[in-house]
Amino acid sequence: MATDVGGSRTQAGRATWGSKIAFILAAAGSAVGLGNIWGFPTVAGQNGGAAFLLVYLGGVAFIGAPVMLAELILGRRTLRNPVGAFKALAPRSAWVMVGGLGVLTGVVILSFYTVIAGWTLAYILKTITGTFGAGADTAAIFADVAGNPVAAIGWHLAFMIITIAVVFGGVRDGIERWTKVLMPLLAVLLVLLAIRAVTLPGAGAGLEFYFKPDFSKVTGGVVLAAIGQAFFSLSLGMGAMITYGSYVSKKDDLVSSAAWVTAFDTSIAILAGLIIFPTLFYAGLEPGVGGAGMVFVVLTSLFGSIPPEPYGGVIFGTGFFLLLAIAALTSSVSLLEVTVAWLTDERKVPRHRAAIMLGGLAFLIAVPSALANGAVGWLSSLPVVGLDFLTFLFTIFGQYALVIGALFISLFVGWVWGISAAGEEVRVNDGKFPLGRTWAFLIRFVCPVAIVLILGQLIYSLIG
Ligand code: TRP
Repeated sequence: MATDVGGSRTQAGRATWGSKIAFILAAAGSAVGLGNIWGFPTVAGQNGGAAFLLVYLGGVAFIGAPVMLAELILGRRTLRNPVGAFKALAPRSAWVMVGGLGVLTGVVILSFYTVIAGWTLAYILKTITGTFGAGADTAAIFADVAGNPVAAIGWHLAFMIITIAVVFGGVRDGIERWTKVLMPLLAVLLVLLAIRAVTLPGAGAGLEFYFKPDFSKVTGGVVLAAIGQAFFSLSLGMGAMITYGSYVSKKDDLVSSAAWVTAFDTSIAILAGLIIFPTLFYAGLEPGVGGAGMVFVVLTSLFGSIPPEPYGGVIFGTGFFLLLAIAALTSSVSLLEVTVAWLTDERKVPRHRAAIMLGGLAFLIAVPSALANGAVGWLSSLPVVGLDFLTFLFTIFGQYALVIGALFISLFVGWVWGISAAGEEVRVNDGKFPLGRTWAFLIRFVCPVAIVLILGQLIYSLIG
């Protein structure tokens, strides 16, 4: 149980977060990332705005939050990484493969995630130096960063090194220390940018698109997009929350922690929409322009005219890319930490060596992704699938693998390892499990059924 070792509390020899708040910030840091600030407004813009927002909120509450709690329970019960957690609860069974899929998914998501995060570093520099003045050719500037092999790989390497440096410090002195500084900074930047955006002339139309639902726009595809977005955004389905949960003290309450992390992540996604939509409508642009184009090409083209000129755009733009880089860093750290926890727990590799080995591996895997936005033609538009390599990896690992992982996690906790064992772990601190019955019903029935339907849709849309 909890013991004091040289002033730093550990639990059965495992590191723990310094406090419940430290854990909530770290987990929210994992969840809040490119997926919120760029992904959410993109997917919402392409799927009808307000109608999507409502479906998304439902998905987060009824599917995301219960899976989040299930992952935290698995982690804190076993005090292990995703592979170790399944090994501990279902020894020598095929369930261990769910953990294995999680670790593999972690390495791959880390690889392409840091490519995009690398662009944000390049863009901080570009905005601060006034590259995006009125009339700047933002498409050419983007091609110059993402389409230039040296720039793309160089910035990617820089971001990976920063990620490794944070993970190097470990749970308390690395992840916790940095998220405690970065998350408040992120919140302040976000609120300031949102205030600037909603007070732009013409922002009203953006707010209407974002908050006035048109239910005729809700289709199976919209529901699918919303749930997929929710898993990625909440860092679910690959054991990131198993790993972070394994550092939670037995004294802390898991239910309220899961609720806080979910609420944080969702609020920040909604706030990001408050920055993007008013700004797009201010410029008379379509909200459906998504992907790399939306942030790196479209948004930047507005910087030149954001009041007060001439510095409004420089300040707004620098703040925006700094925000994006910070959000990405606390997420990439969590992705690397999952894999590092696996190597240190299961293979007893020292943390420093594990961080360099796995960060290095992800860096190498990422090279084709870094070259997939113009630098190498066939990688930028793969034969047969027609996607660029980065988007292709995102589809397989950022969507399918997470949905499949979440399905098995809910089946395992709901039916195999069991609701009552899970309930015991929740009650270990104060004997209480608020909403325990509701959670059991959601994790046993609602989550698996919904996820199977989503998978069916995914496969159908792939074939059809
Ligand atoms: N949730 C992060 C985002 O929204 C990305 C991320 C970090 C992630 N860790 C994860 C996604 C684990 C899935 C699984 O950008």
